[in-house]
Amino acid sequence: MADTRDVREEIRSRVDILEVISEHVTLKRVGRNYMGLCPFHTEKTPSFSVSQEYQAYHCFGCGEHGDVFSFVMKVDGLTFPEALEKLAKRAGVDISRLQTQQFSQKDQLVRINALAASYYRELLRRVQTPMSYLKERGFADETIQEFRLGYAAPAWDGLTSFLTKKGINPADAARAGLLIKSERGDGYYDRFRNRIMFPILDIHEQVIGFGGRALSNEDQPKYLNSPETPLFNKTRALYGLHLARKKIAEADQAIVVEGYTDAIACHQAGFRNCVATLGTSLTREHISILSRFTKHIVLAYDADSAGVTAALRAASMFEEAGCDVRIARLPGGDDPDSMLTKGLTAEFAAAISQALPIVDYQLVTLIEKSDTTTPEGRADMLKAATRILAGIPSQIEREKYIRALARYHPNFETGTTKAEDHLRKDIDLIARRHQRNHIRDTSSAKQTTRRTALEKAELSILRALIRGEASATNITQELRPEDFSTEITKSAAEIVYGELEQKGTVSLTSLLENARDEVGQLLASITMQEEWEPITEKFLSGCVALVKRSKAKRLRTSDVLSPYRKGEILDIEEMLKKQGQRQMEQYLRETGKLPPVGEQEE
Ligand code: GTP
Ligand code: MN
Repeated sequence: MADTRDVREEIRSRVDILEVISEHVTLKRVGRNYMGLCPFHTEKTPSFSVSQEYQAYHCFGCGEHGDVFSFVMKVDGLTFPEALEKLAKRAGVDISRLQTQQFSQKDQLVRINALAASYYRELLRRVQTPMSYLKERGFADETIQEFRLGYAAPAWDGLTSFLTKKGINPADAARAGLLIKSERGDGYYDRFRNRIMFPILDIHEQVIGFGGRALSNEDQPKYLNSPETPLFNKTRALYGLHLARKKIAEADQAIVVEGYTDAIACHQAGFRNCVATLGTSLTREHISILSRFTKHIVLAYDADSAGVTAALRAASMFEEAGCDVRIARLPGGDDPDSMLTKGLTAEFAAAISQALPIVDYQLVTLIEKSDTTTPEGRADMLKAATRILAGIPSQIEREKYIRALARYHPNFETGTTKAEDHLRKDIDLIARRHQRNHIRDTSSAKQTTRRTALEKAELSILRALIRGEASATNITQELRPEDFSTEITKSAAEIVYGELEQKGTVSLTSLLENARDEVGQLLASITMQEEWEPITEKFLSGCVALVKRSKAKRLRTSDVLSPYRKGEILDIEEMLKKQGQRQMEQYLRETGKLPPVGEQEE
């Protein structure tokens, strides 16, 4: 009996992705690929690339990528089963032999979530109290529609019996996080009761989970979220991204808020480039997803102390990731939702456009809460300020702030220069005290520049493997996924190796099926990137050696070295000597894949 996987392959081989996409996008041949304007974000120069060879598409602008199925899902807003049906018709493939149970587990969970969302939605339409609650909070009908808000009744078996009637196995619905198995194990009950339901959608507009808000303050917890499921992962999900992503790319800016209601209020007030985290602190995964759309981030977190701490933490993570991040200053006691429902739209817009870079934000907040009318107050403030400034690595950056702070210094009366000198000295003193950390910082900064060359080597290897370049044949024995240097290249390698070892060849579409978002994006972009030079055997072995050498270095500098590891390092070094490491390094340097000698560490 056929399963969806076979049918999917069959359809894929009969439908040409180029034809399907050409119906939506004007494509022009460029090299081996076809290029056009991306249908998923607004752009003026084409960065949307379609490969007939790989039957895949990838947008170098917004990062969207996938096969013919995901294209149809996104462009027509279909679920996977619907896209399958549509393309099967087009390809003349009979799918009547497929049973719904044979859709993959994830598809099944998506289907159950979609049913639940429509059930909650219908209830909201029928029950007065939750609807009045939302209206009182200022949510318009269109907003309620757009965010597909719903209501879970107080009953223990509302959703349970609805899903059962729809032929859903309650065990599956429990796997989706919607039902809970009773302690005695003789049945299931609803997880969400008497709550406003916020469906959480992924960028394919599939419901992956729910947030449920209690209607009264007595009900705890205030928010109840879906548990982790194969679909739902709070450390990756961004609420509202499916609605916001186009606007984010267009505006080249994202507003990040803390709460569901904040995101909704922002969208309603016209700030449509807004997403929210789901009550967890911001993660690297969130950052990597958002930076596909923009590098300009404004954080609009609550003005309370927890919000400020969270914003500073999130901001420095964005900064580390190379984003331009700013923090909006909201009036004390407000969050974006409370501001906007009070009608303070212009004030909120001003807060966003006047959002400050981290240090400015810290200093302004510090000055604001200090008593700068007394000499003691000013001295305390300056003391705290010098600590903040001592953390800025760049001298030039620091100067700008020193100039601004000089007017609070007791010596200011006698002369600006003198005040500035004093401040500079104080800052230097603290900076030197933190010298240890400093050294650690610079060495890790160096590592980043090195990693770029290394990462390039790793990507070249992956590309050669995916494209089946003859020179890549022995690599899988020489180098293992765990030798790759970053989490992302490691998981990309795992997927590529897995395919190679199972099937002997790699198909981009099946790679993408197994990949998480940012890994998939990486795989699609390295496979379809045109500008790469052909990969020669010599170059590739240089790359392999570089990856190995850097692994050896990582092992050597790791805190605990087992005798086994030491042995491994010696082996690798021995091998590198034999392979003519110098030659390889020189080649990499000449071709710009390694920094010139002067910038090397050691
Ligand atoms: P409203 O009070 O409805 O306006 O929500 P809010 O977004 O202003 O709430 P708050 O600032 O307290 O929380 C921000 C986000 O944290 C929420 O949107 C939730 O995602 C999450 N959150 C808040 N309270 C809880 C809770 O009790 N449990 C869980 N799991 N998450 C919560
Ligand atoms: Mn709120």
